[in-house]
Amino acid sequence: MKERLQKIREEAIEKVQASENLDKLNEIKVAVLGKKGALTEVLKGMKDVAAEDRPKVGQMVNETRAAIEEKIEEVRVKLAAAAREAKMKAEVIDVTLPAKKSNLGHRHPNTIALEELERIFIGMGYEVVEGPEVEYDYYNFEALNIPANHPAKDEQDTFYINDKIVLRTQTSPVQVRVMEQGKLPIRMIAPGRVFRSDEVDATHSPSFHQVEGLVIDKNITFSDLKGTLAEFAKELFGENTKVKFRPHHFPFTEPSAEMDVTCFKCGGTGCRMCKGSGWIEILGCGMVHPRVLKMSGIDPEEYSGFAFGIGLERIALLKYEIDDMRLLYENDVRFLKQF
Ligand code: DAH
Repeated sequence: MKERLQKIREEAIEKVQASENLDKLNEIKVAVLGKKGALTEVLKGMKDVAAEDRPKVGQMVNETRAAIEEKIEEVRVKLAAAAREAKMKAEVIDVTLPAKKSNLGHRHPNTIALEELERIFIGMGYEVVEGPEVEYDYYNFEALNIPANHPAKDEQDTFYINDKIVLRTQTSPVQVRVMEQGKLPIRMIAPGRVFRSDEVDATHSPSFHQVEGLVIDKNITFSDLKGTLAEFAKELFGENTKVKFRPHHFPFTEPSAEMDVTCFKCGGTGCRMCKGSGWIEILGCGMVHPRVLKMSGIDPEEYSGFAFGIGLERIALLKYEIDDMRLLYENDVRFLKQF
């Protein structure tokens, strides 16, 4: 019995020492100390050992087990350390490697133009507000002095949801919504999407964007309008930009005008950009019609104001010299990447 235990012990220790990784070590542990292991076999044979020898043999078995376990633990610690070491080596980070470039998207030319407009007007003390895209006929037309039979209603080929609700054809209804709140004075811009049932071509789209502007206070005159919009044009197109106002008609302003800027490409001498005229039209504007003020609960004897409407796409197309509006909506990254 003694020799057998001795043999188990020697063989086990030899194997343990020779094991080259933790898996192998575990295998040996099971083979020697496990349920079906060599040492357990010996214990099972105890019933054949004479009763007086049993304590002694039992002690020998325990000693053998302890010796083997000790060796296993010793080797396990070494192997575990080696394994950790190897793992660390394999995971070394080379900080000199060039980083992987992630392809970040960026802002759409419309958004860039809008943020530029917002920056300019916020700088002049304006608030940025928003109104609904699905709008009551009342706000889109009636309250802007465009009655049911008015030709302007046909001009702005409207998408009707029903006879009272439309997709707004302009951002001007936001003027009414802000005036109705009754907080004066007002100095705001309202950017947003508008809709008209137009055929798609290089200069038209059934959905595009406008930026509305509205100022209401005591003693606001046409010179405030001119000064403000001239300053805006300079900020947007450059210090040397001049403006000119041409009389026009909008139902919600009186008087009304369209504003042209000197062509920022040729400086006014005439080129392809401005079709030879030296001027480029950029917005509609005017003094808010007294009837519009009254309908929104503002006394036109006490308050006056001016309004303007800018086509956002037009600004983006001009600024980036894009000759087809459709490019703005196709989302072709080869195009969009350029801005
Ligand atoms: N709403 C007009 C349009 O869509 C643009 C416009 C013109 C807005 C004059 C205004 C304005 O606020 O004063 O054609």
